[in-house]
Amino acid sequence: MNILLLGSGGREHALAWKLAQSPACDRLYAAPGNPGIAEEAECVALDATDHGAVIAFCREHTIGLVVVGPEAPLVDGLSDSLRAAGVPVFGPSQAAAQLEGSKGFTKDLCARAGIPTAGYVRTSSLEEARAALASFQPPYVLKADGLAAGKGVVIAATLAEAEETLADMFGGAFGGAGAQVVIEEFMEGEEASFFALTDGTAIVPFGSAQDHKRVGDGDTGPNTGGMGAYSPAPVLTSELQARVMAEIIAPTVRTMRAEGNPYQGVLFAGLMLTADGPKLIEYNARFGDPECQVLMMRLESDLVALMLACATGTLEGTEVALSDATALTVVMAAKGYPGTPVKGGAIDLAGVEPGAVKIFHAGTALADGALVANGGRVLAVTAMGASVTEAQAKAYAAVNAIRFPSGFCRRDIGWREVAREQAV
Ligand code: AMP
Ligand code: GLY
Repeated sequence: MNILLLGSGGREHALAWKLAQSPACDRLYAAPGNPGIAEEAECVALDATDHGAVIAFCREHTIGLVVVGPEAPLVDGLSDSLRAAGVPVFGPSQAAAQLEGSKGFTKDLCARAGIPTAGYVRTSSLEEARAALASFQPPYVLKADGLAAGKGVVIAATLAEAEETLADMFGGAFGGAGAQVVIEEFMEGEEASFFALTDGTAIVPFGSAQDHKRVGDGDTGPNTGGMGAYSPAPVLTSELQARVMAEIIAPTVRTMRAEGNPYQGVLFAGLMLTADGPKLIEYNARFGDPECQVLMMRLESDLVALMLACATGTLEGTEVALSDATALTVVMAAKGYPGTPVKGGAIDLAGVEPGAVKIFHAGTALADGALVANGGRVLAVTAMGASVTEAQAKAYAAVNAIRFPSGFCRRDIGWREVAREQAV
């Protein structure tokens, strides 16, 4: 079967790497791809916002499966256009992608389905939002409703800061995403991510991971898309995973289907492990980046078969086989990220011992045949080990062998789990 993968980040490089390993994969195309993805796929220029052009490409190249990497094309309804044209697609419909595209939609769904999450109020004007603050305690959790590239959440320590943030949000700091704002109760606990595949009815767990969102060591500095991750996240024990499936994932899938918006694809739950049990922070309608890199490292099943089963409603009875080993990825970013990254910096991977790690390309380009940085997050250096400590040591040994003078990385990816491993 011929497959088209949409996207150009580290997540998509990991997906391309795994899709290409499948015996079911004949030709793999990626749009737009990147130099790492080009080792696995034929990269083509296709505008994912031009649904007609994507459909025409699928017809011309007899594409049997489209895999949508990032959220924007999902929220834009590309899956609906492809399905209407008879092309199987891994990724939810526009209506189902509201689970990521609208924080208020998800909170209302949780309320209807009795899913544990933070108490909340949806507001649609500055006056309404300011009045609503009175019913919350600091710190105040304020969320622009729509897609805001991971920057739409502000945790304000004081009432004055909360009011200022609300004024920014309603003042257009997040564009259309801030037309509505959700105010939430602050939840205490450790965060972890859980992934599940679904075809709208059947649900198959896809394991756990823990991300590192802040740019600096010790979880300091501004939020980013993610500076590193590892999987599994032992803090999400099998008992807790069973609760997440029963109390959060299953009622979500059931309610979406019952309300006429069946969800097909991967459901990525951001969780807070509170004293009262796991609670949903948010959903994403796609794999995480860089969580996908560590999940794909551990995946032993045929990714094409799994994705096709989601796309065609035949997931029942399928399982995701994952290695018991730990995968850990360190993101190397260009200096300036998450602000304006330095572009064009030289990258030399020659010093890395072959086979020791898998280096996924996130934001790279070729300039006169040489690899250079071309984005905020540039590489995801990914290693496997018997423990987080071991995977971390292997990943950093490779990081240290990479010459990327205009780049930087966190030095403590996996720190929570390394501390727990060293305590026993
Ligand atoms: P989100 O984009 O919804 O995942 O939020 C970004 C980050 O804000 C999360 O990863 C949490 O660290 C934090 N956060 C979001 N909602 C809450 C909440 N209700 N209580 C505590 N922290 C939160
Ligand atoms: N790494 C977090 C995300 O992909 O949303």
